[in-house]
Amino acid sequence: MNEDQKKQQVKAMEGTSSADVKSDQNKDYSQYFQTSYTPPDLKQAKKRGKEDVSILYNFDIPEDMQGIGKGKKFLIRTYGCQMNEHDSENIAGILLQMGFESTAVAENADIILLNTCAIRENAENKVFGEIGNLKPMKLENPGLIVGVCGCMSQEESVVNRILQKHPHVDLIFGTHNIHRLPDLLKNAIFSKEMVVEVWSKEGDIIENMPRARKGKIQGWVNIMYGCDKFCTYCIVPYTRGKERSRRPEDVIEEVRHLARSGYKDITLLGQNVNAYGKDLVDMEYGLGDLMEEIRKIDIPRVRFTTSHPRDFDDHLIEVLAKGGNMVEHIHLPVQSGSNAVLKLMARKYTREHYVELANKIKTAIPHASFTTDIIVGFPNETEEQFEDTLSLMREMNYDSAYTYIYSPRDGTPAAKMEDNVPMEVKKERLQRLNALVNEMSAANNLAYQGKVVEVLVEGVSKKNEDVLMGRTRTNKLVNFRGTDASIGTLIQVKVTNAKTWSLDGEVVETVGVN
Ligand code: SAH
Ligand code: SF4
Ligand code: F3S
Repeated sequence: MNEDQKKQQVKAMEGTSSADVKSDQNKDYSQYFQTSYTPPDLKQAKKRGKEDVSILYNFDIPEDMQGIGKGKKFLIRTYGCQMNEHDSENIAGILLQMGFESTAVAENADIILLNTCAIRENAENKVFGEIGNLKPMKLENPGLIVGVCGCMSQEESVVNRILQKHPHVDLIFGTHNIHRLPDLLKNAIFSKEMVVEVWSKEGDIIENMPRARKGKIQGWVNIMYGCDKFCTYCIVPYTRGKERSRRPEDVIEEVRHLARSGYKDITLLGQNVNAYGKDLVDMEYGLGDLMEEIRKIDIPRVRFTTSHPRDFDDHLIEVLAKGGNMVEHIHLPVQSGSNAVLKLMARKYTREHYVELANKIKTAIPHASFTTDIIVGFPNETEEQFEDTLSLMREMNYDSAYTYIYSPRDGTPAAKMEDNVPMEVKKERLQRLNALVNEMSAANNLAYQGKVVEVLVEGVSKKNEDVLMGRTRTNKLVNFRGTDASIGTLIQVKVTNAKTWSLDGEVVETVGVN
């Protein structure tokens, strides 16, 4: 099918109203396209079976795709969380291995991939805006490949909308089949048809995909994929499949490799890292055991994200309390301070459990810094329940918090609840919450005034190129004047001025420790 035929067929589809599409989400659109068409299915993605997870170590670029990118450039835009960033590093790695070069300039690109996020409606709107923006570029340069991947691709409503309204998109793939990119790209390049392949399975683990890491100081190491928590508001368990842990030996080898390559700060990644190991059928092994091993590796800082309070066990706290390269920063999303709201969210802990856990951590690690995530305006949230969140914030004295207005996600249980808190009220609550977060952050930063802290120098400040920036072990941003030679080293800095969101300081030790 050539471009014109494709446009005509999609035009025919545009005749359907959006209401038809809604009632017709499982419709097989493959009749419109000749290529193999695997659509997503959120209901299928929800299933959790007992079958073993396959761990595949045999990623390879097919022979006929090797070198195909010579002289061509790619651009990846990443919209989501660290996991999404991590996927972009894999995608970039694959494209580089195929001979493509990376570019930051859209006009120079032969492939533009949007690695999307489905967590809130505004994340999705941004992507649809960008898909629209790319249309003139595609019309001017029909050879350009426009691809959509990431979490939005896992939603059938999104794929249907792209099929109907954005025929200039060439390729849609999901979070479970990134390793199929070479083949999918081949189809997209040579057949000129929209290629859609999204797997709604529980997921495998692909071990040896190439990786083009973004930085040389900080690195991400995925320790597990997926999520089985099914918090009622959240789309992630549907877009990322079931919880599945990488083998400890694979994780440890990757951390060792990063240590040998000079990385200084490692973040272990997962949607719910505290569930690490639960699915490893042949061993009793958890995050605490993994951290105990990683503690022995010569890398100055190790952190992890994200923790679910429910699976945070005593062994992990014991290991973290040993210090060394285990930093004193715990991101522990609470979502709400009201037990009634927590119950509706199916977080499966109470405010009291959460505080008890946090106190246990604080006793074991006295200078630990806590950060959190909060959702305001969940269905039925009353003013009083929101005030419970404010009081929990004060009780916990967080260093900072990511705060969000609740956004209904199609296919989740909460989306069936009446979204009955008016938008003005949601916005007003968010403002009050943010004011409190700012106040706490400023007060906590003030405690650093005059103190000498260890800073990992990350680079030149984005705001002022005469100034360097780095972070404390507790993840506080510090700006100071220094020499570029210290980038990538640990130095001692005296805090001279504490601001709301950052600290200014002076270097007290000029030679960094490598
Ligand atoms: N796995 C992580 C969260 C990933 S999503 C965890 O459980 O901590 C990051 C944050 O986005 C969540 O903690 C939550 O605060 C927010 N979030 C998730 N779904 C949302 C929704 N439907 N509306 C608003 N915020 C949401
Ligand atoms: Fe979403 Fe809850 Fe899983 Fe986090 S733990 S990814 S909020 S379902
Ligand atoms: Fe977004 Fe998917 Fe991450 S929905 S937050 S990119 S797991």
